[in-house]
Amino acid sequence: MDRAVTAIDRLTVVVPDFPSAGIMFRDLTPVFADASGFRAVVDAIAASFAGTFDAVAGVEARGFLLAAAVGYATGTGVVTIRKAGKLPRAVHRESYDLEYGQAALEIHQSDLPAGSRVLVLDDVLATGGTLVAACALLDKAGATVVGCGVVLELGGLGGREKLAGRTVHALEIVAPAPR
Ligand code: PRP
Ligand code: MG
Repeated sequence: MDRAVTAIDRLTVVVPDFPSAGIMFRDLTPVFADASGFRAVVDAIAASFAGTFDAVAGVEARGFLLAAAVGYATGTGVVTIRKAGKLPRAVHRESYDLEYGQAALEIHQSDLPAGSRVLVLDDVLATGGTLVAACALLDKAGATVVGCGVVLELGGLGGREKLAGRTVHALEIVAPAPR
């Protein structure tokens, strides 16, 4: 865990005014691009939930990186939660709010055996809309969500509160960056 936090602190780049004015974007791509940093965050997430899950769900797009690696490292399967319109077979769909407007996520209805214990992974927890929708999809699919894992939680945006009742583990929690 310490190695993961050190890597996150050393390698995350804060980009002012992206994707829009006033937003301080925390870019984790250098953490994933660094061999030891990537291994540290994947190992830390896997350790946080060790022995509790039979499958990992990744949320498109950045959650896929973590889910694939954690699934491989722990010998579990990977389920894709995709932005609407990408999956070819029958899906469950959940809408969620963006800063402006709405988006939707989908999961195949039949990718998981009923009762599967699933760990949901994404890179960042901000307002929580994405992970709330992802968990709701897994509920609809008959899975048991054992928890949500993220690399970074942006504190103060209400995400953890929106996920009340779910187990949420962030490798690091940061306050919104000052301007
Ligand atoms: C970002 C991030 C999380 C989500 C967090 O994804 O990767 O998935 O926002 O925000 P929330 O907690 O307020 O819902 P985004 O949909 O921007 O796109 P990407 O992962 O496809 O790049
Ligand atoms: Mg995302």
